[in-house]
Amino acid sequence: MQTLAMIAQKGGTGKTTLALSLAVAAEAAGRSVLVIDLDPQASACRWGDRRTAEAPAVMDAQPARLAAALAKAAQAGVDLAIVDTPARVEQAAAEAAKVADLVLIPCKPSILDLETLRATAELVQGRSKRPPLVVLNAVPAQGTRHEQAAEAITGMGLAVCPVHVGQRVAFEYAAQAGQSVTEYEPDGRAASDVRRLYDAICQIVGMSKKERAQ
Ligand SMILES: Nc1ncnc2c1ncn2[C@@H]1O[C@H](COP(=O)(O)OP(=O)(O)OP(=O)(O)O)[C@@H](O)[C@H]1O
Ligand SMILES: [Mg+2]
Repeated sequence: MQTLAMIAQKGGTGKTTLALSLAVAAEAAGRSVLVIDLDPQASACRWGDRRTAEAPAVMDAQPARLAAALAKAAQAGVDLAIVDTPARVEQAAAEAAKVADLVLIPCKPSILDLETLRATAELVQGRSKRPPLVVLNAVPAQGTRHEQAAEAITGMGLAVCPVHVGQRVAFEYAAQAGQSVTEYEPDGRAASDVRRLYDAICQIVGMSKKERAQ
């Protein structure tokens, strides 16, 4: 089982949105996916409640129980666990970083998000197996802000995911419907970004894109 953790000390960077988007993309690729929601706000769990499809499974857990939940999931045959964490709760982020094969740090290309990156990186570094990967999210369709942001992030010594995710209203509509953008608008740009992000992450963690024959 591979474990991804979505971590950012800043609120609203896209941790939950990308966790759920990746979970649905992985399910569509034939993987058995579990989303573990460590956030007391329970946004991922609420999305699961709105959802009509059974998969991916979404459960909540206390940070101190995360390792036990993951052990159970692995035993039950889950092959990808995605841990969503709350902003500004160091214990949850630290526990998630410890168990993750890869930590993803969603970050919008804005000064407000960039300023908080160092604190997130310090929390993750020394705990995670691999260096964390910053995923630029909600990148405006126009302009070069993401290029400047990527430069600033690499300047901090952090790796930037080669795939960034555009700012698309489809993410909001999909979330309302308990869906992912790949379901809500399969041919849209948001869906294409998510599929490319999923593929890039598979490559980084050395996971084949598809688990079973479709
Ligand atoms: N790529 C995107 N394009 C447009 N809107 C987005 C995108 N990513 C996230 N959003 C929107 O931004 C808001 C915050 O996203 P989300 O809840 O995923 O962030 P978060 O990091 O989980 O927040 P929190 O720290 O509160 O848990 C949501 O309304 C979501 O729909
Ligand atoms: Mg969230």
